[in-house]
Order: sequence, then C-alpha cells, then structure tokens
Amino acid sequence: MSNYSQATALLYEGTEVRGLDFYKPLSIPYYCTTAFKATTLEEMQQIAATKFSYVRFSNPNREALAKVVSYLEQGEKSLIFSAGMGAITTTLMTLLRPGDEVLCSRAIYGETFQVMTDILPAFGIHVVFADFRNTENAEKAVTDKTKMIYTEVCSNPVLRMADIPALAQLAHAHGALLMVDNTFTTNIAIKPITLGADIVINSLTKFMNGHSDAIGGSITASAEIIQKLEYFRPLYGTAGDPYASFTMYKNFGTMDLRVRRQMSNAAALAAFLEKDPHVRVVNHPSLKSHPQHALAMRLFPNEQTMSGMLSFALDEDIALLNKFTSHLKFVHFASTLGGIHTTLMHPCTSSHADVPDADRRDMGITPGLLRVSVGIEDPQDLIEEFRQALAALD
Ligand SMILES: Cc1ncc(COP(=O)(O)O)c(C=O)c1O
Repeated sequence: MSNYSQATALLYEGTEVRGLDFYKPLSIPYYCTTAFKATTLEEMQQIAATKFSYVRFSNPNREALAKVVSYLEQGEKSLIFSAGMGAITTTLMTLLRPGDEVLCSRAIYGETFQVMTDILPAFGIHVVFADFRNTENAEKAVTDKTKMIYTEVCSNPVLRMADIPALAQLAHAHGALLMVDNTFTTNIAIKPITLGADIVINSLTKFMNGHSDAIGGSITASAEIIQKLEYFRPLYGTAGDPYASFTMYKNFGTMDLRVRRQMSNAAALAAFLEKDPHVRVVNHPSLKSHPQHALAMRLFPNEQTMSGMLSFALDEDIALLNKFTSHLKFVHFASTLGGIHTTLMHPCTSSHADVPDADRRDMGITPGLLRVSVGIEDPQDLIEEFRQALAALD
C-alpha cells in the first residue's frame, strides 16, 4: 500500500497473511481457535512451518495487526504482545545477557523503570540512567559495555523530549541498539526507525487502539531481531491474545483520523490553558514555552502533530484541584491514556505516588499537576469544558 496515503493504507494493510486472503470478507474475522487442523503428518509439519499451528506461536489476527504496525512504523517486521509491558520485558530479556549494560533515560514510564531497576539487575544486567534532555549526558554515560540505549520520545507526564537521531548515532558509534517507546507520540507524529532507531515499542492499549477496550503491545525491528523474539516470545508466553488483535485491527482503521484530531486538540487546549490566570505551567511540545520546542519542531511534522498528551499545573492546593475537577462535566479521571474520551490523571497520587517529593519536583511534578490525555471531542467543546471549570475557581 506504499502508493497510498496513510489514511487509506490503514484500511487495507494486512488483508493477506501466509496465504490466507482476508480480502473477501470485508472485515477480518476473529480466529477463535487455539489450533489449526491437518490430516497427515506431512501437512501438519507444513502448516506449522508456513501457516498457523498453535495460538501461542502464531495466529492470523495477530499477524494482520503486526502488518499494520510494521507499515505505520516503517519497520521490517513487527510482533504483537499481550501488553506494552510484555513487549518491553520480552525484548530486553531476549536481547540482553549478564554483563551487558543498558543506558536508559531517567524520564520513562514507571513500570519500565521498575523493569530496569528490579528485573534486569537480578539477571546481571547493569542499568545506567541519564537525563536525555541533553544528549551530552548520554554521551558521558555510554561505555563499551552498553548494548542498548532506551528512551521514550516524550516522557510522562511533563513531555520531556529525547533527540532520537542523536541517540541513534551515539548507540551505533558504540555498537549498541537504540530502543524507543513511541506510545505517547505514536507513529502518526514520528517514525523513530526512519530516524535511526533499531527497535520501536508501542503500548497498543493507548492511542493506537484508542477505544480503551483492549490491551496489547508491539515491537517493530529488523527481521533478524524479530526472529530472536519469535523464538523467545512463546517461551515467555507473552504473545497477544487473538481477540485483542481482532478488535484492535478494526479500531486501527480510524487511527489516522482519531490520533490527528487528538494531537491537534491537545495543541489547541495547551495554547488555551497557557493563557488562563489559574494555570501555573503547561507542558506540551507545541508551545513556544516548552524548553525543547526547537527539538520538537525538528522531530515532528508541525505543531498540530506532536502528541495527544499534555499536563498543566494549578496551585499546590488539593481543595482547589478537587473544586476544578468537580466542575468538569465530561472529563474524568481514568488510569489509562490515548482513548477517544479526554481523561485526567494526577501523577502525585497515582503514577508517581511512590517517588519521593524532592525527586518528583525534579521531574517537574508538583501536587498541582494534572496530566490530560486528549480525546476526539470537538475542540471548542473541549476548551469550554476546561474554561468553565477554571472559571469556577474565581
Ligand atoms: C509510555 C508507556 N509505555 C508502556 C506502557 C505499558 O503499556 P501496557 O499498559 O499496554 O502494558 C505504558 C502504559 O501506560 C506507557 O504509558
């Protein structure tokens, strides 16, 4: 589908896998089976090698979804996992060995951080953290033992950025791999493989599925890396459930439309919030006030296509915060992100509850900070929703 635009290709990629032509049914059916049959031993061996045999190894719905992800990330091959975390742990445990070193951004998703601090060291893998806002910090921390550099494009919840092309260069100069989490930004805004990354992980649970009704993760990489993962994924048992792939495949058809709207809504809401006198700070890379706005303009197509995530801070007063959220009419707290409905999260009491206050402040997280995952609502309705709740604070 490379002759077509992304919006069109999203509807048609993945309609044929391993000789199964999905083109005739307009919607790909759900393969609700754990195994496929054969009548002879020869046929059994043949289907295992070229088609589908047992669900933990392969499944048509998973493979169709993987094709779309490879297309979107412009990578050679992709695999679908049970969750974003399943994709991360399986990849790290497959590619790293005792004595290896990982150079990791300090600003990463909390549970990825826990994998780096609680799982990898237990297997003799040393993890070094650095502040990737300045690539020089990564340059100082890289060693001959570094086998992987790991980062997100924009971090949670204050959207600090990493210079992906510079990190790719650094990794390759030391014979290491660059692994990038594209969950917050998505392949609509940035395709890290085209900027030099070797491995891209997406939590499909978030923007890519967009409907808050299925969990899954993906890894996109070279055929050589994917082959290694294909060996280990069944051993870890982290392959994605076929039903989740089936339902996500349907939802992917509208991803280009949804995510573009979410991103432009986020840019519009960020610009509005910045002008409100109750708001102390707004974090979104589209804003000129974002300390890495110039980097954002270099990495993303334009201000409207950066991320559907933003955060903003009110005064450090929980009563004020509660007053604000209780005046919101359709925006509510939820422990996820990336869905078509705008949702809120309070980092101090949820994602970063266990982080000491001084460290949190160092990360830009104050008790007044709210993270917003922006949905596909009409932008005027969305701005009015926030305007009237802020006005109630007067
Ligand atoms: C940036 C990022 N990466 C990875 C994950 C893990 O994804 P999942 O919940 O699908 O395991 C999350 C979850 O919130 C996330 O925000």
